[in-house]
Amino acid sequence: MNNFTFYSPTKFVFGQGEEKNAGSYVKQFGGSRVLIHYGGGSAVRSGLLDRVKASLDKEDISYVELGGVKPNPRSGLVYEGIELCKKEKVDFILAVGGGSVIDSAKAIGIGTLYDGDFWDFYSDKAVVERTLPIGTVLTIAAAGSEGSDGSVITLEEGMLKRACGSDLIRPKFSILNPELTETLPDYQTACGAVDIMAHVFERYFTNTKDVEITDRLCEAVLLTMISEVPKVMENPKDYQARANIMWAGMIAHNDICGAGREQDWASHSLEHELSALYDCAHGAGLAVICPAWQEYVMEHNVARFAQIAVRVWGCQMDFAHPEITAKAGIAALRAFWKSIGMPGNFADLNAREEDIEKLLDTLEIDGTTLGNFVKLNREDCEAIYRIACRA
Ligand code: NZQ
Ligand code: ZN
Repeated sequence: MNNFTFYSPTKFVFGQGEEKNAGSYVKQFGGSRVLIHYGGGSAVRSGLLDRVKASLDKEDISYVELGGVKPNPRSGLVYEGIELCKKEKVDFILAVGGGSVIDSAKAIGIGTLYDGDFWDFYSDKAVVERTLPIGTVLTIAAAGSEGSDGSVITLEEGMLKRACGSDLIRPKFSILNPELTETLPDYQTACGAVDIMAHVFERYFTNTKDVEITDRLCEAVLLTMISEVPKVMENPKDYQARANIMWAGMIAHNDICGAGREQDWASHSLEHELSALYDCAHGAGLAVICPAWQEYVMEHNVARFAQIAVRVWGCQMDFAHPEITAKAGIAALRAFWKSIGMPGNFADLNAREEDIEKLLDTLEIDGTTLGNFVKLNREDCEAIYRIACRA
């Protein structure tokens, strides 16, 4: 196991009705003038936004609102939010929504207290030193932004989707009420499930040795998803299954599963180009990329792929031909994601093989490499995109 520092200071408040206490948590973390940030309308339609506002009223906390965050959140609204926060002297941002809303809130938080362009933090030109504090009321189990140190924004000029990471942008508190996810369309529930599992894969496929504890934590999250997601597909109002998935989503990405091990993240980079170009859901893009990446890199460590096949997918170990076991595991992953309605290849995603050059160009892979498990060059990335076309 490698040396590591793990800092995850977010206060998680979990369970039914907890959004009604949002105001008191804002107060606890020093907020007195709040920006309520939300998405395209689901939080309005469900009445959630009204409940959150009532909780702020109850604590005599004033607020301004900025809705309209789109999935794969854009820079334009971030600039608007920064101006609003400066003008209204906002001292706390409350994100009510999914990963897109939370990521947009994180970007506004760092941009408001910065003299330059917030994009500097997403293009490695500046390091985060301060931010407005953020709280979240999560409405979809997926990105894990409610506990993560990351934010992903798309710069409209050039449609570049890029990430910023800093422990400073981890939310001060996150309210996780699984009931709020019951209004999700099945497709979004499934996209979220893929993302949660992908966050585990990015950590599981490592070259670091002797990482039994994090291997087992990763496997627990995957096994939970495999047992609970079909229950929710069958019955969207299965609260207990939703609860298990929601907590799995947090555990999958606050990095408790990744501590002390080298992580990969090539699949995420390859996917971000798809959601930037086609505006597809991040989880749907991952459903196409992850199995293709796994097939491409499998030979690098067949034993690790065989291990996950046996421990997670219940495959029989073929000691004479471990690669058969390894492949069976990847096939099981494909079958599972297909069973919950996820795309399996470029065509399912309405992506085009002709665009691969374009994807590679924005990936900025020339002269450098992607990922750690296997360091991928441009040709490797192209090969993975081509597997994703043919699958
Ligand atoms: O905008 P509204 O109307 O709220 O609709 C959303 C949106 O259309 C809808 N939705 C959310 N909660 C709902 C609901 N509809 C009905 N009922 C509810 N309770 O679902 C759609 C997707 O929402 P979004 O926030 O985009 O989903 P997700 O949480 O998957 O976030 C995706 C974004 O997070 C980034 C992705 O790249 C993508 O941009 N990621 C962020 C990470 C991080 N910050 O750590 C890590 C991830 O790997 C990921 O890259
Ligand atoms: Zn993700």
